[in-house]
Amino acid sequence: MASELRLGVNVDHVATIRNARGGGLPDPVRAAQAAAAAGADSIVAHLREDRRHISDDDLIRLLEAIEIPLTLEMAATDEMLDIALRHAPHAVCIVPERREERTTEGGLDVVSGHNHLKRFVDDLGERGAIVSMFIEPDRAQLDASHSIGAPAVEIHVGAYCDALIAKDAAEADRLLARIVEAAEYGTQIGLQMHAGHGITFDTVGPVAAIPQIEELNIGHFLIGEAIFGGLDSSIKRMRALMEQARADALGEAIA
Ligand code: PXP
Repeated sequence: MASELRLGVNVDHVATIRNARGGGLPDPVRAAQAAAAAGADSIVAHLREDRRHISDDDLIRLLEAIEIPLTLEMAATDEMLDIALRHAPHAVCIVPERREERTTEGGLDVVSGHNHLKRFVDDLGERGAIVSMFIEPDRAQLDASHSIGAPAVEIHVGAYCDALIAKDAAEADRLLARIVEAAEYGTQIGLQMHAGHGITFDTVGPVAAIPQIEELNIGHFLIGEAIFGGLDSSIKRMRALMEQARADALGEAIA
């Protein structure tokens, strides 16, 4: 059971702001360095097929500039596989991708994509990457991820976070119970459990409290919040909330 909880900071939306104007500012590499200085355990970047935020050059510069691990989020395409094999990031999270979506709207269907996805796990694993599948909290998806040899999964907690923000307590409770059950079952079958999507200061607590979850990956909210108080402060506050929730769940005192 994990008592430590890592924080991965996704810098995609620093690139979104830069791309709104063209040019080079703000630079996601600078944000990644600031995130590392604020206590992020890893940096996350999603190289999308349409390059709407992170670019190929950003990926190269991130890998050169940061000293903490980089997680590359990518779709399961041959183009992305070539890029990931060339650059060998510390970790790769395979996500579903549809051009028309605003963000990653649901989990990957590993059950039906089984044969296609196994090659990504095998090839990237051989290259030394920790490969995770971004999935809904669903037993069949956990079993399928395990059966293709993925060492980790990231549970999509976006629907839960949305329900909590909408103050739909019954729906939030129902969705949280699914996440808790998935985290317990995933750990039992040997998967490393991560979680992400839609996490804010108001939604992080119950997810961080789930003791099997080892890593949270958070982007949009942290970058948005940085407008008001700076990236350093938004990351430090998120980390403090994570640690408090985990300590409360384990009945530990924070030093
Ligand atoms: N994890 C995965 C796999 C994602 O695709 C995203 C969104 O890029 C995140 C985490 C971060 O989500 P958010 O930006 O809502 O914090």
